[in-house]
Amino acid sequence: MNAIVAVTADWGIGLKGDLLINEKADMRHFVEHTRGATVVMGDRTLASFPGGRPLKGRRNVVLTIDPELVAPACAEGTSCEIVYSIEEALATVAGDDPSRVWAIGGASVYRQLLPYCTYAYITKFDVTLPADVYFPDLDADPQWHVIEEGASHYTQDGVRYRFLTYENDAPVACA
Ligand SMILES: NC(=O)c1ccc[n+]([C@@H]2O[C@H](COP(=O)([O-])OP(=O)(O)OC[C@H]3O[C@@H](n4cnc5c(N)ncnc54)[C@H](OP(=O)(O)O)[C@@H]3O)[C@@H](O)[C@H]2O)c1
Repeated sequence: MNAIVAVTADWGIGLKGDLLINEKADMRHFVEHTRGATVVMGDRTLASFPGGRPLKGRRNVVLTIDPELVAPACAEGTSCEIVYSIEEALATVAGDDPSRVWAIGGASVYRQLLPYCTYAYITKFDVTLPADVYFPDLDADPQWHVIEEGASHYTQDGVRYRFLTYENDAPVACA
């Protein structure tokens, strides 16, 4: 399994249920990596998508403690499954190619699934913004190392960002 996330300089990822930065190139990067794959998320992240709909063309696995949550209707080529624990999420994706399973947030799900992730694809924006949810600081974790650092890009507002890949020295096996 891998993780994919966009963070600000202090690893902020969201505020009041929304993303901190909407950058088209970052959205394209997310879509290119996750298209046709399995994405695992918390129910608040699902709720943050347009219309609260699962991501098209992917197998959506949604973690919740809410017994009333019903999987929304899905477009063709899309599925959405509700699971109630990390163990159930891991069992649900166990048959998938691990390189095609993505932890996509939010903060609580990243925290719980990072130990199982081999790579973390991080879009890092060189700006600090008010946030109420954070990704773990991988630079402070000796188990994680940057293995690829892309060129600098700039948002329309002139904020520098880069696509970084971190590798986990000792991922826990999913099965
Ligand atoms: N920058 C990015 O790339 C990015 C990506 C995704 C999301 N986000 C942002 O992150 C924020 C949402 O993150 P969040 O942490 O608030 O919410 P979240 O992780 O999306 O969802 C939390 C929900 O998932 C449930 N859940 C988590 N682990 C569970 C488990 N083991 N078993 C059962 N249910 C479980 C939680 O239940 P409990 O109540 O028990 O915790 C809670 O109801 C939004 O602002 C969103 O925009 C940013």
